[in-house]
Amino acid sequence: MVKLTIDGKEVVAREGQTVLEAAQAAGIYIPALCYHHEVKPYTACRLCMVEVTKGKRTRFVTACDYVVADSMVVRTDTEKVKKCRKLVLELLMAQCPNLPQLQELAQIIGVEEVRFSKSNDDCILCGMCVRTCAEVVGLHAIGFEGRGFTRKVCTPFDEPSEPCILCGACSYICPVDVIPVEEVDGYRIMERWHKKSRLVACSKCGKYFMTEDEFRFLQEKTGLPEDRLRICMDCR
Ligand code: SF4
Ligand code: FES
Repeated sequence: MVKLTIDGKEVVAREGQTVLEAAQAAGIYIPALCYHHEVKPYTACRLCMVEVTKGKRTRFVTACDYVVADSMVVRTDTEKVKKCRKLVLELLMAQCPNLPQLQELAQIIGVEEVRFSKSNDDCILCGMCVRTCAEVVGLHAIGFEGRGFTRKVCTPFDEPSEPCILCGACSYICPVDVIPVEEVDGYRIMERWHKKSRLVACSKCGKYFMTEDEFRFLQEKTGLPEDRLRICMDCR
């Protein structure tokens, strides 16, 4: 066990836990848009910056990947931390001015105006979708392309991604909800990835429950017989 202080509160954390995880477990709020416990930290949004003192040294670190240590003193609420957080959010809001999730966050952390020139993106480049596809689903259907202002998340060559099975995990995890999944006339459609796949109906209740691409992927992965795979979770 590791004993540290966060905002003056004594906290006991597990060995190897990050500052963000320890703070969340102790009920201390740190904004974090690109963190999820199921995927490796990527430190893209920089909103989780905190001030950490170890021994005589104080510095700013990202809480989502910084591991706790005994006697560490963490401050999430200093003027410098707040200023840094506001600036980071302001930059994100300039990049993606129309995201309600950012506007909500602006109210929480007190951003009143955006002083930078605005573009009209909708993706904050947090990489949650890319990491979930790779680390959780085990595919590399999408990825980052370009640098600087042209950086974006897309399918290879911006064409329908061969490995994408339209499982929707990327859509589920996206913190700003910009990967829509539609189901129309027996197809699942993900416009953002230029993909469409026929839906498979449960052999018992007849309800659509996965795409044909997912079905083939699972068949290959599990080796289960087709008749077992064609039964939805509710009917199993
Ligand atoms: S599409 Fe969503 S999850 Fe993917 S990088 Fe952009 S904001 Fe993050
Ligand atoms: S949550 Fe830590 S950098 Fe985004």
